[in-house]
Amino acid sequence: MPRIAHLSDLHFGEAPQELVESLAADVIMAAPDAVAVSGDLTRRATRDEFARAFAFLEMLGAPLLVMPGNHDIPRGNLVGRFMHPKRRWQRARPEDAMEELTLDGARLIGLDTVSRAQWHLDWSAGGITLERRARLAAQLEAAAGLDVVVVCHHPLRHGPWAIARHAPREAGATIELLRAQGVKALLCGHLHQAEMMRLGPGGALQVIAPSAFSPRGSGAPNGWNLVSIRDGEVRVETREMLADGWRGRELG
Ligand SMILES: [Fe+2]
Ligand SMILES: [Fe+2]
Repeated sequence: MPRIAHLSDLHFGEAPQELVESLAADVIMAAPDAVAVSGDLTRRATRDEFARAFAFLEMLGAPLLVMPGNHDIPRGNLVGRFMHPKRRWQRARPEDAMEELTLDGARLIGLDTVSRAQWHLDWSAGGITLERRARLAAQLEAAAGLDVVVVCHHPLRHGPWAIARHAPREAGATIELLRAQGVKALLCGHLHQAEMMRLGPGGALQVIAPSAFSPRGSGAPNGWNLVSIRDGEVRVETREMLADGWRGRELG
């Protein structure tokens, strides 16, 4: 039964050190088979923030799958954003931080949803180009027979509380691809609040992790998700940092 620690929206650059140490201890105690990170490792995509984020992730002592979020590309520097958005990300990323991982009977596949620009004003929203979808389709075909979990930054559908947010471009076609290929779960973040919903009848389970460390967002507690797959069923315990310490509750 693979157990995956799902962390998101770490936002080094605004992460309180006490919380960083406390969350690390909570993850290490759970002894997961892998750590999946669904983006926004940094606040402003600086070298120092990346270095601290990856040092933290390496310390957790489990195989790593790490995908970028909208905060992990330059924001104010438009030349950097358009010409080489992933340069710092690629330089900082350690060799053992994978975009695909095989566990006992399961495969984790990373999907990059980060987008440089939008036709609307919310440039934090993502997009899944035809090329990204084609790559994902090939990876899903190669994973036939395994329990597949896809990891990306942006949720493909928003619950009523976040309905005003823009979904990534081509989210609908991606939801259909996940459904057609029998993907078990989609692990994502971006909204800084834990949530789980089914992406339509027979669709994948979309699981959003809370922000690990950021004080920004809906006011939901910081934390992480422990995702378990047993006999093809996905269960999620969300671990929340409350005033009196860590509390686990089943998400559903
Ligand atoms: Fe974020
Ligand atoms: Fe984000």
